[in-house]
Formats: sequence, C-alpha cells, structure tokens
Amino acid sequence: MADMDHVIIMDHPLIKHKISMLRDIHTGTNEFRTLVGEIAMLEAFEALRDLPMENREVETPLEKAMVPYISGKKMAIVPILRAGLGMVDGVLTLVPTAKVGHIGLYRDPKTHEPHEYYCKLPAPIEQRTILVVDPMLATGGSGVEAVDFIKQHGGKKIKFMCILAAPEGIKRLHEAHPDVQIYVGCVDRELNEDAYICPGLGDAGDRIFGTK
Ligand code: URA
Repeated sequence: MADMDHVIIMDHPLIKHKISMLRDIHTGTNEFRTLVGEIAMLEAFEALRDLPMENREVETPLEKAMVPYISGKKMAIVPILRAGLGMVDGVLTLVPTAKVGHIGLYRDPKTHEPHEYYCKLPAPIEQRTILVVDPMLATGGSGVEAVDFIKQHGGKKIKFMCILAAPEGIKRLHEAHPDVQIYVGCVDRELNEDAYICPGLGDAGDRIFGTK
C-alpha cells in the first residue's frame, strides 16, 4: 500500500486487476456492479483497520478467555448517491451491523459543482466511524460537500473511500478536510474538460445501473 499520509492507495494485485476490468468498455452492467462491490469490500478491509476494539469474555471448548471484539455498533456507511450505492453491499459484507446513511448530490452539468437534494444520516452520528463512499473522486466537489454536511450534523471520525481518483479531487478534498483519511483504489492522470477522470472508466453510476 502506497501511503502519502492523508491518502492511502490500495496497492494490491486483486484490486488492480478488478479496476482494470472496470475500465474495459466491454464489461457489462452485471459484471461491473459485481466488481464495484468486490473492490469496495477489499478496500474496506484496509480502511477499517483502526475500528475500536474491546475485550470480552468468551467460553471456548477448553476454558474462559478474554478476546477482542469490535466495540459497539458504531459504524455508518454513507454513499454519495447514486454511484456510491454500488459500494454499500461490499462494505456491509464485512460489517453487517453498520447503519447506512445517504447523501444525494447532483453535478450541475455546466459548472460541475454539486447540489444537495437528499440527506439522511443514522444517529448518533457523532459516535460513529463514518465511511463516505463514492467510486469516483473527480473534482472533489461532491466529496467536500458530503463531508461538510456530515460535519454540520455532528460527524467527527470521517473516512472517504473511492475506487478511482483524479489528483485534483484528492487535493481539493484534502485542503477542505485535512482530518479525513482518503482511501483510493487508483489515482488516474487527470480530469478532462467535462470533469471526467482519464483514463477512468466512464460514468460510474450509468455503468452500475445500466443507464445512459
Ligand atoms: N463521475 C464519474 O462517474 N466518472 C468520472 O469520470 C467522473 C465523475
């Protein structure tokens, strides 16, 4: 794993291979959706490395022992709609008890700036480790807006997890929220004039849901 302090790039053959399959224009909707879920699960394994633990007593077939468990039910997955939805089940596979919030943002096609249309977060948000998920960290506008919103509602321990990022998006999110650790499958070259990540994988939402 390459580490630049605030950004952790998932340097793992399984993740790299699956991202290459996502990029392929010939990968169909069903396979694309499955891959997004698998990558989210593999990334979450790393992103949740520091979940708080507590020791509890268990009776093994041999004796009683104090053993570590994840403490409390204090996690929230917050997908940025719509493409972030594709990553939720992968994370839930690892943490089935996590609660799921939603943040609906759409990009203005001219300015590329995000606008909020729906937000709902699980309480008590201030006590939860919050994993914001969006497959694409492009301009960073949606990521910044989502984290702004979560903080306004009391969220404190926030992580951001994406599959592809543009350097511009990482910079913007980090400048706005230096306390938010960013987990990335791969950092691509640049954004084009339409704010698409290049070489990228196209529109993640359209490819997950089979829309155009
Ligand atoms: N959102 C996408 O779905 N794809 C991009 O390349 C950029 C933003």
